[in-house]
Amino acid sequence: MVTVLFLCGALGALLIPGRSELISVCYEEDEDLRVDCRIEPKSNKINSFQFSWSSGTKQSVINTNVSGAAAEAQFRDKSEVVELDPHGYRMTLKDFKNTLPHNTTYICDVSGQIESIIVEKEKLEPCSAVSLFLKNSWSWIAPLLIFLYYTHC
Ligand SMILES: *[C@@H]1O[C@H](CO)[C@@H](O)[C@H](O)[C@H]1NC(C)=O
Ligand SMILES: *[C@@H]1O[C@H](CO)[C@@H](O)[C@H](O)[C@H]1NC(C)=O
Repeated sequence: MVTVLFLCGALGALLIPGRSELISVCYEEDEDLRVDCRIEPKSNKINSFQFSWSSGTKQSVINTNVSGAAAEAQFRDKSEVVELDPHGYRMTLKDFKNTLPHNTTYICDVSGQIESIIVEKEKLEPCSAVSLFLKNSWSWIAPLLIFLYYTHC
């Protein structure tokens, strides 16, 4: 019984972080920076996005479609935003390595809801590793659900 409870707790803890991750940062094979922002916009608000980063006291807007806001000139032709399924936005930034500050806070704002994450330059992960992890964890879900069902977690 105790073993089962322990397993249930451990499995729950494994699953939860991946689910609550509303912002993630990685670099792509071609070395573009990728920031995924999975905030669900509130339906009663004007839909908008803004990606920025900050280091120290300096905050730079990389891409935005908030009316009245503008991205910094240095990022304007280098970044691109696409919509994610089922909601959220993905921003990619070319040639970022030279501009990246050491410890960076990545910030995304979807219709006024803000998420941020701090990533050290050296700890930036390739996206392939991240998606591999997600893929692997997805292949766990079905057997896990069966296990949870039979152990009555
Ligand atoms: C920003 O872009 C999104 C997705 O393309 C769009 O739905 C939204 O209306 C845009 N917001 C503004 C303020 O232009
Ligand atoms: C970056 O953050 C880490 C951990 O908080 C810290 O040890 C390091 O000194 C910071 N580096 C710079 C350049 O601020």
